Order: sequence, then C-alpha cells, then structure tokens
Amino acid sequence: MAKLNILKYGNPVLKKKAEPVTEFNEDLKQLFNDMLEAMYAKNGVGLAATQLGVLKRVIVVDTTRADENPQVFLLVNPEIIQASKEKCEYEEGCLSFPEITETISRSRKVTVKAQDIFGKPIEIEGEGLLAIALQHEIDHINGILFIDRMSPVRKLLHAKELNLLKKANTPKKKHK
Ligand code: NI
Repeated sequence: MAKLNILKYGNPVLKKKAEPVTEFNEDLKQLFNDMLEAMYAKNGVGLAATQLGVLKRVIVVDTTRADENPQVFLLVNPEIIQASKEKCEYEEGCLSFPEITETISRSRKVTVKAQDIFGKPIEIEGEGLLAIALQHEIDHINGILFIDRMSPVRKLLHAKELNLLKKANTPKKKHK
C-alpha cells in the first residue's frame, strides 16, 4: 500500500503542523494499524502520522526491546504538559532520515496528556528512552524534525548526507 511509504527529509509535508483529531472512528483505527505496521517493519521505536503523509495529531511509540513484552502507546492529540529541566543525551535516529543518527539533548522526563483510540483522556509519564521518543514524535506533529534540535556544529557534520537526502525527496517543480 502506497500509504505505508514513510516520507523522507526533503518532503515538504514533514515541515507542516498536523491538525487535531476530532473523530474517533474506523479511519483512525486504520491509521493506527498502518502506523504500527510501518514502524515495526523498519524496527522504529516511534512514528508520527505526518511521516505517512497524514496531517493528523497521532503518534505511536514502542520503546521496548525485542526480548521484552511490547508496550505500545497509541496517542491522539498528545501534548507535553510537564518536562523536566534535567536533560539527557541520546543518540537519535528517525525513519524519515535513513542512516543518519546524532546525539540530541532533551528533557529526561515528560508528562504527556493525550486521548486514546476511543477519545478517552489519558496521561502518561515517561523517562529515559520513552521520554525521548515522546518528545521526538510530538515534535513531528508540530513540523519539527530532529535535525532542528541538533547543535549547529553537529548539523554541519551531516550537511552532505542531509543535502543529498533533501535533493532526492524534494518534489520537482514543473517548469512552464
Ligand atoms: Ni522521527
């Protein structure tokens, strides 16, 4: 299915802010199914609907390792309501940036308010890798990419690969 194609850096959709979800219907369930399939197919720990080209405020996160019981979070309209001042650094990757990883500093602990697949309000607290994944995915639905969180020097180190990726994925303008 074409929908399961993960958009790569250079696609302008990745820079757009996603819209809140107001209807908790079959389409939303299908979207979650597609997102989980796309995320697990690439061994990702999180995915935002934006990355499948759907501009809805929906994310999935599963930071458990293969030898642990999976704990997957399906979050609708997620919002960070508390973030620790204390930071932690983690080597992040992103399915929209194949092959590129870089150390990013984020809050070590966050509290996220969201709705579940039925529209019921939920609140989750995450720390460590879960906190990082939540911040990374919530950034996505706001059109913010992990390279926007890199220090300028570290971003420069990736300039060449980023330019190539951008060039390959920017839609060509038609000339008249
Ligand atoms: Ni990402």
